[in-house]
Amino acid sequence: MSTGEDTSDLLANIEPFSGLEPRELEQVAQVAVPRSFDRGEVIFREGDAGDSCYVVRTGSVSLRREHIDGRTLALSELRPGSMFGELTIFGCQTRSATAEALEATSLVAILSADFQRVIRSSPDIALKMLEALANRVRRANERLLQQSFQTVAGRVASTLLTQVIARQAEGAPATQVLVRATQAEIAQLAGTSRESASRFLATLAREGVVELGRGKVTVHEPERLRGFIQ
Ligand code: CMP
Repeated sequence: MSTGEDTSDLLANIEPFSGLEPRELEQVAQVAVPRSFDRGEVIFREGDAGDSCYVVRTGSVSLRREHIDGRTLALSELRPGSMFGELTIFGCQTRSATAEALEATSLVAILSADFQRVIRSSPDIALKMLEALANRVRRANERLLQQSFQTVAGRVASTLLTQVIARQAEGAPATQVLVRATQAEIAQLAGTSRESASRFLATLAREGVVELGRGKVTVHEPERLRGFIQ
């Protein structure tokens, strides 16, 4: 991407910039820097100082926290249009989680000072960010509830269903939905051990709800997952 115009075109298609006027897009494009990461590459680590936030353009990013005993909790998986890294630039603290590319991923990075300037002149961006933050707090509460009260089976089934819904939002079919994730990744998102998640995934496979492959799960009939969510 060589010119501000190319960057404007790109930004026009990603939240939270999609509703901006061409003039406003151009302002953001002037300060947005394209960055690319390979699968498995760390974008930043929990505890790092940070002065940029990012928007996912293509690919996907996992956000995770690591416990002192080595266990990992996946906080979220971000797909195109999602912003991350804003807590550090507004909260003036260090990165609250580690961000890693789950596949070949391209991002746009915006420096804190530039971003704050853009927000002052285009407050619609701030409104969209608040909406995204509000949704994130709701999801975090939902997760807290699940982890407190649901069985492991319920959490793994919910996690799979969430993945299916995200794929369908990107055009996947109603049935036979391919979820590219390892069993360890599913376990981290469900907040359980890999062994427990694998045991329940094997049960789902025996019952014909899913088919397990290397680094992937095909969900034959997503609606049947609801029967396991208690
Ligand atoms: P920051 O702390 O700069 O770096 C890690 C980022 O992960 C953080 O900003 C947020 O953008 C994002 N983040 C933190 N917690 C969550 C969560 N529970 N769900 C989604 N994103 C999160």
